[in-house]
Formats: sequence, structure tokens, C-alpha cells
Amino acid sequence: MAKILVTGGAGYIGTHGVLSLQRAGFEVLILDNLVYGHRNLVESVLGAELIVGDTGDRPLLDRIFATHNITAVMHFAAYAYVGESVHDPAKYYRNNVVGTLTLLEAMLAADVRQFVFSSTCATYGIPQEVPIPETHPQSPINPYGASKLMVERILADLSAIGALRYVSFRYFNAAGAEPDGSLGEDHHPETHLIPLVLLTALGLRPAITIFGTDYPTPDGTCIRDYIHVSDLATAHVLGLKYLLDGHPSDVFNLGNGLGFSVQQVVEMARRVTQRPIPVILGDRRAGDPPALVGSSAKARERLHWQPQYADLETILTHAWQWHQHRHG
Ligand code: UFG
Repeated sequence: MAKILVTGGAGYIGTHGVLSLQRAGFEVLILDNLVYGHRNLVESVLGAELIVGDTGDRPLLDRIFATHNITAVMHFAAYAYVGESVHDPAKYYRNNVVGTLTLLEAMLAADVRQFVFSSTCATYGIPQEVPIPETHPQSPINPYGASKLMVERILADLSAIGALRYVSFRYFNAAGAEPDGSLGEDHHPETHLIPLVLLTALGLRPAITIFGTDYPTPDGTCIRDYIHVSDLATAHVLGLKYLLDGHPSDVFNLGNGLGFSVQQVVEMARRVTQRPIPVILGDRRAGDPPALVGSSAKARERLHWQPQYADLETILTHAWQWHQHRHG
């Protein structure tokens, strides 16, 4: 059984990734510094081996690669708050770029040469066309997106000299929760729309503020492509198998190709939860593109990826089950 090192495996998307790997028969070793990750989910739900540490800790990485027979690395670990990245860019470049480069150098020194990377639609910046294809120019408008684009470039250059093969996934908006209710989103602080809307439905927040109502969209609020976290996780297993089958490095968008406005998300959440969700109409948030919708035709064709939970109602229903379970 191949053993996969999963960085950030205690985080929101990482825990779902680990579960999918385990279900596909892979053995998993998690490296997570637990700054945002959850030890309890690793121990009680996943039962995977956890090493607490940073991706930038080269001696630790060398020990890990020396003592475990790692076939490939799946790299979820990163800081991912767009707003924070604008105010503290160095923190993002150190962790997301320097940390990843350190991980890559340790991997290569240990002769581990297959890598699955969590990139983001934030590398595109303001789209010139939607749905956005992978060939769209990349011009990020915040340091978070820039940090991920830098790693994409490092990977392309390493791949070009035959040092490794990689798959990069550019996620659109990850949302939802494991359908059996065992895993879900639990960020501290929470900044994402869907969990904030559901915490409002639970009465744990007084209202949801809509950031901007004057965008050039049909109802004036921002449009995003929400993709179920379990579908993201499945794509990672397919991407890993693609590499293990010997395919060359490649980059794939992961989204549903459907855009929903902030207003539409709130309305759907009212329907799913059957609770009142008070709204405050607020100003725009810095760094938000008006509309981000991705084309994932390439992942469907080459990886045979088929999202199972593509509709927003299902995504919200699973997220609602998780939040009720946690806070109910
Ligand atoms: N929003 C609100 N009110 C809130 C929170 C969010 O109106 O309280 C809006 C945002 O302005 C945005 C939409 O809801 O239009 C979605 O916002 P999220 O914060 O949930 O997600 P983002 O689109 O900002 O961020 C996501 C990922 C990032 C990724 C980014 C790409 O979380 O990692 O997409 O733009 F970089």
C-alpha cells in the first residue's frame, strides 16, 4: 500500500482529502502544525498518524522522509485568508512559498518525486472571461493568490528539468461537509460566506453582512462557483493516481461551472435551514473579484472526475448538518 504524506491533513480540505485517500486504499501520514488544523478530527475520525510540525522545518522533513517510505506528497498546508494576506504579505510568502520550497527540496533530496498541490482560482485575478479555463492569464490581485502562483511557477520549472511530476488543482470556493457528518468546516476565525450564513441561521451570529451590492452582476452581489469539499477530495485521489500511472505534470481547475451570487446563497440557506437569516448590506471587501466561475472540463476529461454533489442545495444541506451537529 502506497504511503502518502499529506501536509495540512488536519485542516478543512485536508481532512476530507485524507478520508478519500484512506477510502481509496492509501496509507496516510499527516504533517500539520495545528495552527488551524484539528487534532481531534485526525484522532477520532481519521485515525491517521499525525506529526505536528511546519513544512518549513527542513530537519523535521528530512527525518520524516528518512523514516517513512513516502510515495508522493499531497500538499494542502497553507495560510488561506485573502484579507489577511493583503495586510501581512510576508507571512503568506514565508509560509506558502518558502515553506513549500523547503518541502520540495526535502522531497527531492529523499528521491520523492510526485506532488499534488492545492492552488487556487485566486491566481487568475479579475477574469477576462467566464467560465475561466486553465489557459486564462494569471494575474492575482492579492498576496495569497500571488503566493500560490509562485509555487505553480516553481513546480513548472522543477518539472521542466525532470526533477518531479506534479498535479496542481486550482480550487474555486470549497464548501459543504462530508455527507456522513463526520467532517466539516471549522475555521478560527471564520471568514467564509457559507459557514457565516449558517452560524447566523443557528442564532450564533446576529446577521450576515453582504460585502458589496453594487457589483456588475444581476443582483449586484459577488458571484462564486461553490464546489463540494468531498468532490475536491475525490479529485485529489484521481490526480494522485494520474501521477502514479506515469502521466506528465498538469494543472486542473476544480469547480462546478455554476455561479451563485451572495444573495442567492443566503436565499438558498434560508430554504435549507428553514430559519430566518438577517442580512446587513455592507461595503465591498478589498480584493474581491466580482465573479469567479471555473471551467473544469479538463479535469472531467483527463481525470474522469465527476462531481457528486454539484448543486448548491446539497452543498448547503451537508454544511448545515455539520454545523447543527457541532453547535446544536
Ligand atoms: N462574503 C460576504 N460576507 C461575508 C463573507 C463573504 O458577502 O461575511 C462574500 C465575499 O465578498 C465573496 C463571497 O461571499 O463575494 C465568498 O466569500 P468567501 O470569503 O466565502 O470566499 P472567497 O471567494 O473570498 O475566497 C475563496 C477561498 C479562497 C480563495 C478565493 C479565491 O476561500 O481561498 O476564494 O478568490 F482564494
